Amino acid sequence: LKTIHYVTLTADGYVVEADAAAGVPPAILQHLMGLVAACGDIVVGRRTYEVLLAQTPMAAIPGTVIVLSRTLGAAQDVTIVRSPAEALRVLADRGLTSALIGGGPATYGAFLDYGAIDELHLNVAPVLAGSGLRIASLQAQPVGFDLVSVDRLEGGVIQAHYRRPS
Ligand SMILES: NC(=O)c1ccc[n+]([C@@H]2O[C@H](COP(=O)([O-])OP(=O)(O)OC[C@H]3O[C@@H](n4cnc5c(N)ncnc54)[C@H](OP(=O)(O)O)[C@@H]3O)[C@@H](O)[C@H]2O)c1
Repeated sequence: LKTIHYVTLTADGYVVEADAAAGVPPAILQHLMGLVAACGDIVVGRRTYEVLLAQTPMAAIPGTVIVLSRTLGAAQDVTIVRSPAEALRVLADRGLTSALIGGGPATYGAFLDYGAIDELHLNVAPVLAGSGLRIASLQAQPVGFDLVSVDRLEGGVIQAHYRRPS
């Protein structure tokens, strides 16, 4: 199963928080939903799931929604998994071939620690946050990529698509 991380950072390298004043630019959300539809799924951590749920009914997301959590029981229109390995197993069992890892930082870290990152879509928003969340991994090993493409989105966002060298 191919794992694709989808990350939006500020210009000073912090993870943009959806409920912060600036929020995630609409052009990014639109691009993300296009990728969800193309992959057929999105994997989010329990905290990101709660942020999403406050904004959008899960049934409106154009793919299977997998929520990574050790604490949640069953929830409507999503599948709860206890580990990155289980997330990938569930998606493979459903015949999907890509896992879109939608964050947040704890979840990116969990998949990085599991060694699961084949592609990275990185958006850089034109803002300096000064402080905030960072992607953290226990295995602090560098992971290198080839640059596939760069685009410019509305709102001054730079978008880069990277792939692990084969
Ligand atoms: N800029 C972006 O690209 C982007 C994308 C997504 C989210 N965000 C922002 O990121 C923030 C939330 O990120 P976050 O790091 O606090 O939380 P998160 O990654 O969304 O969720 C963290 C939760 O996921 C579960 N989890 C994490 N690792 C796990 C593992 N190895 N096994 C089982 N469960 C695991 C735990 O849930 P339990 O506590 O239930 O066990 C943990 O509390 C929000 O502000 C959101 O807006 C930004």
